Amino acid sequence: MKPDVKLTAAITAMGGYVPDYKLTNTELETLVDTNDEWIKTRTGIEERRVLKDPSKATSDLAIAAINEIIRKKNLDPTEIECIICCTMTPDMQLTVTAAYIAMQIGAVNAWGYDFTAACCGFIYGLTTAATYIESGRYKKILVIGVDNMTRFVDYKDRGTCIIFGDGAGAALVEPNYEGLGVIDSYFRTDGTGRKLMHQKAGGSLKPASHSTVDAREHYAFMDGRGVFKSAVNNMADSVLKVMERNNLTKEDIAWVVPHQANMRIIEAVGEQIGISLDKMMINIQRYGNTIAGTLPICLWEWEPRLKKGDNIMLVAFGGGFTWGASWIKWAYDGSDFLNGKHI
Ligand SMILES: CC(C)(COP(=O)(O)OP(=O)(O)OC[C@H]1O[C@@H](n2cnc3c(N)ncnc32)[C@H](O)[C@@H]1OP(=O)(O)O)[C@@H](O)C(=O)NCCC(=O)NCCS
Repeated sequence: MKPDVKLTAAITAMGGYVPDYKLTNTELETLVDTNDEWIKTRTGIEERRVLKDPSKATSDLAIAAINEIIRKKNLDPTEIECIICCTMTPDMQLTVTAAYIAMQIGAVNAWGYDFTAACCGFIYGLTTAATYIESGRYKKILVIGVDNMTRFVDYKDRGTCIIFGDGAGAALVEPNYEGLGVIDSYFRTDGTGRKLMHQKAGGSLKPASHSTVDAREHYAFMDGRGVFKSAVNNMADSVLKVMERNNLTKEDIAWVVPHQANMRIIEAVGEQIGISLDKMMINIQRYGNTIAGTLPICLWEWEPRLKKGDNIMLVAFGGGFTWGASWIKWAYDGSDFLNGKHI
């Protein structure tokens, strides 16, 4: 470490992947009692991506996103030290998806684990990675936000099946000596929220059985209306807390990256924090809610427009409940990758 210089941790490249298949609102009309107009006005979603190939799963989405980083950065996978796979939908129970990912990408020197924090997976995982880097012990960590949520969605339940999609975003996190990267985070949880969003059977509380499958309890259950209000208030509150304690004004913020759960939630958060929609990354219309994938997929898509020094506020709310916001100072001009410049 360089003496007298504060060591921070910064994202130095983004990768992403969404499956090809587009599940449109029109197709959903053939599955459940809904319609395009209702879905668009109540959620803002027009289509979402679905991983159709039954031989593929969460790890395949993650690996595709990581491979983009390996390509862009000319990264030797043996240099990767740690893989944090943020997901609620691991390939299998009782094994670690991150270990399988490490093997598949040739990260033979990496340790890693799966990180379950629902839609907050990526911001919690990013802050965890930043802490490892700030300790001085690590130099290259991959944080992936990925979910293959459509495998847990009941296409007979119109309240949930319209919302979710599949996708992955990956970030390479490295040391920074210019004061850039993850600067501050405010995170909270509230366990009373688990009654409003969960999978009824398949966990240790209620293992899966014939009767739980017959009762469709292996699918996602969500009380959308209950989740909605908590999501808006807690997301807005987290951003305001981080701004206040760092003396940030809304003019200081280049981009807000909100969890993509519902367009109305994004609009309400924007209103409460006083930041207009043109400063918010929004792609919910194309991908729906990809759980831990939403934030890194946004950063991946917006990467070419991001500039070194941009103040970016990530904010999420998810099952558990979990919520919080992270302020990062972006560490590179994203357009450099388009110019073929390795950073
Ligand atoms: C799920 C969600 C889109 C539902 O929208 P909503 O405006 O809250 O709708 P409600 O659940 O209050 O339902 C309103 C009506 O629409 C109906 N409805 C629900 N889903 C429908 C659908 N897909 N198509 C048509 N009608 C639907 C309901 O049955 C209800 O009808 P009723 O008034 O006759 O009972 C919304 O609550 C939401 O996005 N919640 C947050 C999701 C979230 O953040 N999840 C966090 C985990 S990431």
